[in-house]
Amino acid sequence: MCHQNRILPFVMLFIMLLPFVKSSTAQQYKIKNHTIVFKEPKREKGQQSMLQFAADPIPVVRIGFIGLGMRGPDAVNRMTYIDGVEVVALCDLLPERVERVQTDLQKKGLPRAASYTGEEGWKELCNRNDIDLVYICTDWVRHVPMAVYAMQHGKHVAVEVPAATSIKECWQLVNVSEQTRKHCMMLENCCYDFFEMTCLNMAQQGLFGEVIHGEGAYIHNLDPFWPYYQGNWRLAFNQKYSGDVYATHGLGPICQVLNIHRGDRMEYLVSMSTPSYNGKKLAKEKMGVDTFANGDMTTTMIQTANGKTILIEHDVYTPRPYNRLYQLTGTEGFANKYPIEGFTLKGEKLPAGVMPDNEKLDYHDWVPTAVKDSLMKAYKHPIIVDIESKAKEIGGHGGMDFIMDYRLIYCLQNGLPLDEDVYDAAEWSCIGELSAASIKHHGLPVQMPDFTRGDWKKVDGYKHAVK
Ligand SMILES: NC(=O)c1ccc[n+]([C@@H]2O[C@H](COP(=O)([O-])OP(=O)(O)OC[C@H]3O[C@@H](n4cnc5c(N)ncnc54)[C@H](O)[C@@H]3O)[C@@H](O)[C@H]2O)c1
Repeated sequence: MCHQNRILPFVMLFIMLLPFVKSSTAQQYKIKNHTIVFKEPKREKGQQSMLQFAADPIPVVRIGFIGLGMRGPDAVNRMTYIDGVEVVALCDLLPERVERVQTDLQKKGLPRAASYTGEEGWKELCNRNDIDLVYICTDWVRHVPMAVYAMQHGKHVAVEVPAATSIKECWQLVNVSEQTRKHCMMLENCCYDFFEMTCLNMAQQGLFGEVIHGEGAYIHNLDPFWPYYQGNWRLAFNQKYSGDVYATHGLGPICQVLNIHRGDRMEYLVSMSTPSYNGKKLAKEKMGVDTFANGDMTTTMIQTANGKTILIEHDVYTPRPYNRLYQLTGTEGFANKYPIEGFTLKGEKLPAGVMPDNEKLDYHDWVPTAVKDSLMKAYKHPIIVDIESKAKEIGGHGGMDFIMDYRLIYCLQNGLPLDEDVYDAAEWSCIGELSAASIKHHGLPVQMPDFTRGDWKKVDGYKHAVK
């Protein structure tokens, strides 16, 4: 009785505070003038912009890897082919996964790295004082806690896609990177594919005129992969969240062409999604649940401050051929990657007074293969020229993954700004929660946060740094 009397005031207090508790965990946005607006925190004292940030050169980059499932071991392997890299530590929840990669290192005649295992082993890895870069390849919900902890313990971070799963997490990455002055690069490998790099070079040299629209996608039937995500993390995430939860492969390369936060910025988006048919079936089969939040097909449109448009699609459920779209529409030309790589360019004009021939389709079609091939050669990106044969030999999605790692290390070794900064990580990752909010409100526009806090006009165009 006496015990109950002591507890009662706390119970009463809790009941009184319940509405406030609820509102503090409630939506992070308001609807103003028919637009969804998420809260944007101010830059706190002691934080500095990371735009164009360059750290001191690191001649030998010492790396600790976290997450050695389907993706992580290939990252370790690629890094062993780059000069001036040491694999210092390996970590996975499961000891046998660490051991498998240790064996791979030993087969190459490389020393064993330090091993960390279990749910919290990654913290010990981050606590070491002989690591420069923490490379994270775990499931999505662990990315931000690990990246934040690593930066707070003096490490640069490279983190798999998407870097963050919510707006709050995106701001966390930005704020901690600005506080600690540590790089946080999201590993968006599709920016480094051969066609995309060539098109970026063509766009930067004006071949497409003004690029006014871009399209990108992640259309990849994941049926063969669902059983292998450790602990079913990916299906479980998609079961819980609607929206384009994996937008970065489609969006990243388009943002580079459109100079996002280097003269333009993504201002607002609208998103729609179909019901879940196949996702729901999967969830029933694999998780024994009847609901599935993620629609089978999600379509998002984004408008930039300069009026350009971007279309992004997500579909990991239906039996479609793999497709990232990658399409650029310019005033003078057009590029398309999937399903056919090709270009159309404004070529010769008809002489004055000559009517176009309706039967002649030349001007409606791709440039001939020989022209395409010579364009691909003439506009091959200088970075690709330097590293193409080695990248194709080592591989990683045909070589683009190797180019990404090579560039990351090159920039760290030479004290240069990275190709993808923390604002890219936040901007490309935030599409998940923003699109979900738009879908929830029947396609209402959502204002995109300005993670640079007004600095997006300070850099004139996207560039890869070179020494
Ligand atoms: N860029 C690309 O092309 C590409 C391709 C595939 C996957 N990915 C990304 O890579 C990441 C990993 O995907 P995956 O397919 O390898 O998944 P996976 O499930 O195969 O691997 C995740 C690994 O993280 C480990 N892990 C879980 N909790 C951990 C903890 N507390 N400490 C240490 N390790 C822990 C798991 O044991 C597992 O080995 C995801 O972010 C995914 O989106 C990117």
